[in-house]
Amino acid sequence: MNIDYNETIPNNVGLADDRRLLRALERWQPAYLQWWDDLGPVESSDHEVYLRTAISVDAKGWAHYGHVRMPEYRWGIFLTPPEENRQIAFGQHKDEPVWTDVPGEYRTELRRLIVTQGDTEPASVEQQRHLGATCPSLYDLRNLFQVNVEEGRHLWAMVYLLHAHFGRDGREEAEEMLERHAGDPDKPRILEAFNEQTEDWLSFFMFTYFQDRDGKFQLAALAESGFDPLSRTCRFMLTEEAHHMFVGETGVMRIVQRTCELMRQHDTEDVRPYGGIDLATIQKWINFHYSICLDLFGSERSTNAANYYSMGLKGRYQETKIDDDHVLADAHMMVPRVDGDHITSEESAALTAINLKLREDYAKDSQRGVNRFNKAIAEMDIDATLTLPDPMFNRNIGIFRDINATPEGRLIGDDEWQARRYEWLPSPDDYAFVRSLMVPVTEPGKMAGWIAPPKRGIHGRPLDYDYVLFH
Ligand SMILES: [Fe+2]
Ligand SMILES: [Fe+2]
Repeated sequence: MNIDYNETIPNNVGLADDRRLLRALERWQPAYLQWWDDLGPVESSDHEVYLRTAISVDAKGWAHYGHVRMPEYRWGIFLTPPEENRQIAFGQHKDEPVWTDVPGEYRTELRRLIVTQGDTEPASVEQQRHLGATCPSLYDLRNLFQVNVEEGRHLWAMVYLLHAHFGRDGREEAEEMLERHAGDPDKPRILEAFNEQTEDWLSFFMFTYFQDRDGKFQLAALAESGFDPLSRTCRFMLTEEAHHMFVGETGVMRIVQRTCELMRQHDTEDVRPYGGIDLATIQKWINFHYSICLDLFGSERSTNAANYYSMGLKGRYQETKIDDDHVLADAHMMVPRVDGDHITSEESAALTAINLKLREDYAKDSQRGVNRFNKAIAEMDIDATLTLPDPMFNRNIGIFRDINATPEGRLIGDDEWQARRYEWLPSPDDYAFVRSLMVPVTEPGKMAGWIAPPKRGIHGRPLDYDYVLFH
């Protein structure tokens, strides 16, 4: 279905036929634009950016590319088309037809899931708003802005569900999405990892590698939902999310490549004097981002997660590809347990360990990209590897929150943690060093010295294309 861009809110959900909903969303739109102006990318309103915009929801050719002033970007509402006779794939309503309206008995839970997901979308835009001032290239600046406008669209996606299906409390929740802000001491964003500022580009690429991958897994679990509008919304969001992870993975890869080049050229691991980011520093950023992202999956044991699953609201990653009964009444799973000074595991109901299952799938997916980084390092004849830290490392939520462990997973006392944590996590000096490299490069085709150029440009354009026009 093609999307009509003559409408004030481009959509494929038939807004024109629902005057009440259209009016409600038209009332929210100015507040959204005001928020973008106040807390979106700084000093970007005059730039013309080579952006892609959704013009249909077909797998082929959904995107249009062209230069757009970001405040004029057409944020719209796009759901993948309904699947005929779709049935709920899991939980106590398994094999029943999916719901097109919110089931009254699950209203509170569904709203909470949608609000929690929706809150992360504008949060990431707020976290990244200062990065434009220090872009390593026009290509990267454009990718940052592309990610930002799509996170804005993801907020639209969740706000649409709230307005269309939750009446007055939905409208109130939609307003609050624009009232909480990343890092605001009085009204912070809901999840902790979305309150940190993303102040340098190494952090941005790690964010799009790790945090956006958390997004992928949350959206994939919600795409299984028995509440069909949520499922269809998340399916389209996942196509955009894939691009965010592409930005993250290729960004980290290009930094690793440049570091390895400098290591070979100068025959040293310490490439800082040559304007590179040493592998040890990259490892610290991985340790930080991965550990705070594991917290996003919540407690390993969770009755909320069990309820969401049994109610048919939030499934597992690729639910229908898992070979079991999809009800999990009698299924078990091993869950780690802290036993004094060592770790054991115990059998737990699989239903209450749904968060752990999703987190383990996330860990596998995260490892795949790290393997590609290591392959690139090995191909440059450098004897070093990057690793994901142990799940016990630097945790604030769940079973490991009260213990300290090294990235290798050795339990240590509080004194050792305090004395050594900056061997593993970015120190104030590390941040200062990385920030010292962040000087803007805005000449078409030029790259900052700490990152290799990308393999190719965007949508067939050359690397030295004017991806962003400044006025
Ligand atoms: Fe998103
Ligand atoms: Fe994203």
